[in-house]
Amino acid sequence: MADDTTDTKSSNQMWGGRFASGPDAIMEEINASIGFDKKLFAQDIRGSIAHATMLAHQGIISTDDKDKIVHGLNTILSEIEGGNFEFSRQLEDIHMNVEARLATLIGPAAGRLHTARSRNDQVALDFRLWVKEELQKTEQMLTGLIAAFLDRAEEHAESVMPGFTHLQTAQPVTFGHHCMAYVEMFGRDRSRVRHAIEHLDESPIGAAALAGTGYPIDRHMTAKALGFREPTRNSIDTVSDRDFAIEFLSIAAIAGMHLSRLAEEIVIWSTPQFGFVRLSDAFSTGSSIMPQKKNPDAAELVRAKTGRINGSLVALLTIMKGLPLAYSKDMQEDKEQVFDAAESLELAIAAMTGMVRDMTVNTARMKAAAGSGYSTATDLADWLVREAGLPFRDAHHVTGRAVALAESNGCDLAELPLSDLQAIHAAITDKVYDVLTVEASVASRKSFGGTAPSEVRKQIAFWRARN
Ligand code: ARG
Repeated sequence: MADDTTDTKSSNQMWGGRFASGPDAIMEEINASIGFDKKLFAQDIRGSIAHATMLAHQGIISTDDKDKIVHGLNTILSEIEGGNFEFSRQLEDIHMNVEARLATLIGPAAGRLHTARSRNDQVALDFRLWVKEELQKTEQMLTGLIAAFLDRAEEHAESVMPGFTHLQTAQPVTFGHHCMAYVEMFGRDRSRVRHAIEHLDESPIGAAALAGTGYPIDRHMTAKALGFREPTRNSIDTVSDRDFAIEFLSIAAIAGMHLSRLAEEIVIWSTPQFGFVRLSDAFSTGSSIMPQKKNPDAAELVRAKTGRINGSLVALLTIMKGLPLAYSKDMQEDKEQVFDAAESLELAIAAMTGMVRDMTVNTARMKAAAGSGYSTATDLADWLVREAGLPFRDAHHVTGRAVALAESNGCDLAELPLSDLQAIHAAITDKVYDVLTVEASVASRKSFGGTAPSEVRKQIAFWRARN
């Protein structure tokens, strides 16, 4: 028995600090979601107004009670918006905070609002509405980022730069073409967002706790009032489904990966060694100790935010993977992941859009780099195939010898004298110099989707018509 006493005492001491009052305080702390789900206040109130209106329309509550409820809810909305609302942790979450305040404002009629619903369908509704709005915002922001790239692509449809594979100079491309690669990526992200909006466009309210309800509710009416295409079809799935949140996080993770690759390129391009772009002061910082430095902090932070978004996706997948149907309290942990990822994604898109619009492109540096590293070697091989009838493999071998010679002479391919080239292969004529410049190389790649300025302009027109 003495042991028991010691046990209780030591665990009480362990609670200590903020848990001084014991199990009640611990339960309140672990159970309450108001600290973060208060973000859902507007959706909660909208949902309740639609629900109460439907209840009255169906004769389940009186019009008089409905009017009181709607008036009270609108009052609460202005109180919260005006910062005049006191959230209480004892009341656990946003749903109970609003309902308790409604009771204070309008009395017993407040008790009728929760007829034919449960917090399970209520939270599913509020969160879906929130995620839907966030997806719509993301769609707009991606459109802005695509527009920034289209402008830069148009401006630089002819500016040559080295194209890389393995981050080694491969073949010359245009900066416009490179920008359009990002337009494709963010275009795919945006279409994923649009699909996700279609997927989630079903109203959960009326699924009640999990089994539906015996009251003669009209779920089509609430769906319509809340801007959903239709009601969900299975009440069990409705309260246990968080696919819409996971889809948002997957889309955010993929878009974040694209943003991070762009961030990485900007970090590389803005080094003095590359010098392809110069970031505006707005998106870079100086060093407190090294006066020559201009650091690409915004790009680096975009790169880092992506790690955080990935974490949220993995967290929610993990939260959900072991849950039996239908609702479990585990699901309360969905919101912080989504809120945090949404904030990171919005910031990352905004910062990137600003950087892309503001950065100065050093076309001279890009052009010089494009011409180095024997970037037109493939053009020489292609010329040998086309003009001298060599099989490509032989042409590749001949070109390899030309590159080796240029390397040992310390010059570019275009700087090799004709006699030297002819010593490597007799069929070479002075016409070959037409393809050895980077401009000629780029202009020749007219295949659909290729880097020729004429092709890049066609792709810009394609996207302009869709943006
Ligand atoms: N705060 C809860 C959540 O976010 C609301 C739903 C509570 N439902 C329940 N049966 N306890 O998930």
